[in-house]
Amino acid sequence: MDDRQENVVQIFDTTLRDGEQSPGATMNVEEKLAIARQLEELGVDVIEAGFAASSEGDFESIATVASAVSAPIVLSLSRTKEADILRSIQAVESAKNPGIHIFIATSDIHLKHKLMMSEQQVLEAAGWAVALAKKHLDHVEFSAEDASRTRREYLVEVFDEAVKSGATVLNVPDTTGYAIPEQTKAQFEYLRKTVEGGENVRWSAHCHNDLGMAVANSLAAVRGGARQIECTLNGIGERAGNTSLEECVMAIETRRDYFEGIRTNVKTEQIYRASRLLTQVTGIAVPINKPIVGENAFAHEAGIHQDGVLKNALTYEIMEPSTIGRPSNSLVLGKHSGRHAFLDRLKTLGLWYAELDMNKAFFAFKALADKKKNVYDEDLVAIVAEESTRVPKQFELLELDASVSSTNEPHAHLRVRVGESEVEAEASGDGIVDATYNALAEAVEQFGGTRPSLERYVVKAITGGTDAQGDVSCLLRDGENNAIGQSSHTDIIMASAQAYVAALNKLQYLKAHRPAEQRHGP
Ligand code: KIV
Ligand code: ZN
Repeated sequence: MDDRQENVVQIFDTTLRDGEQSPGATMNVEEKLAIARQLEELGVDVIEAGFAASSEGDFESIATVASAVSAPIVLSLSRTKEADILRSIQAVESAKNPGIHIFIATSDIHLKHKLMMSEQQVLEAAGWAVALAKKHLDHVEFSAEDASRTRREYLVEVFDEAVKSGATVLNVPDTTGYAIPEQTKAQFEYLRKTVEGGENVRWSAHCHNDLGMAVANSLAAVRGGARQIECTLNGIGERAGNTSLEECVMAIETRRDYFEGIRTNVKTEQIYRASRLLTQVTGIAVPINKPIVGENAFAHEAGIHQDGVLKNALTYEIMEPSTIGRPSNSLVLGKHSGRHAFLDRLKTLGLWYAELDMNKAFFAFKALADKKKNVYDEDLVAIVAEESTRVPKQFELLELDASVSSTNEPHAHLRVRVGESEVEAEASGDGIVDATYNALAEAVEQFGGTRPSLERYVVKAITGGTDAQGDVSCLLRDGENNAIGQSSHTDIIMASAQAYVAALNKLQYLKAHRPAEQRHGP
């Protein structure tokens, strides 16, 4: 490892791969692209963009991300199979900094019950796969899946083999979230001194959060000599999730005294925006008490705390909201604000980027300001996130009349544009949202499509007050495909209808670009 980098902990973001394995977090190519661009702005060192051999969709997403970003290393996950490795190499070929991440399980339980392979066979597969990848790429990461439950002498043998074959990064996953921080630190210290050539590779931690210790384990790994943390935005991921990027980065940043000069390359003021974009794209809300990015992370309720914070914020705050790009003074714009003020505020919030269609974003802002007296920073974040993840509009809601009364069943009547034609539909339902969704499904059927099933529906108020925007996210499923639609509006029924239509457009897009296929993760 380069001497100058000894104090840098690289951030390896796997939101688009392990994060996407989180139930309901499936993203389409455009959404992955928007996240990848934001990750580059954030300053992550490595983006794991997917698992190329798992599906055509993953392959396409990796290739798209590879050509769109330039600073981070872009890599694809791969099993120790020739076809996987060649597919991964192909997917990252347009990247400025391409790489590959090869994994195979090493614990007894995985060998016996999952792989049905002997230790010798796994050892050979690891060496062979790394050597094959190394013929094509310089950056080759090797992971011993379930390392924290692997016999340590055997783990050393496998890592020895990977180093001999050309691996540049050795990853020690706590696949099941089983590890304890003290053990993790000791494990890294042991591996670093025992594996032959261990001083010339970068050691990496990849932790899962099943016992709520993913961040603690990752930081312990850093104390034990790891110089890469694999993590996801908002900590999303399989089961209880992965290590949360924002928590690790801010822990290192805030406790520089403890970490003795260790730093990351992350531009912390981009954290809040990245977190919000992911929430917008996946519809997976961040718990209100989540450290760093949760709604209450900087809120003070108790009088004694409020008093202290007013006198000096440091009495109860160890970080300033502005360090993560979190707006503190939220009230900003109204209907008289012009394009210049709008753009200026986007820049201040770090929300402006070259590809954003400014006309559309400004139009959306004006439309909102007409309905709502005060437009808050959070509203702007929602507008920009919505603009950056749009797909072509096959469906458009033209008109909606929905009524509720205490005597009759709620009823909705609507007009929808579908491609070049217009469809009218009406339906009743259990409630007004149900009636609206039934009418929309009816419109889809009239057009010859299949009625999608509603898998999830979440409503949230973005800002306070009676004219607050409601943020609705719904997950629709049509066969193998599922899509999340999101919309914000001052009227909750309109937001619900628009979210459904947004999901319909994404489903349509998925069907056209990704025929139903089997996806398989590790
Ligand atoms: O959790 C895990 O072990 C993984 C590997 C594929 C690195 O995600
Ligand atoms: Zn994992």
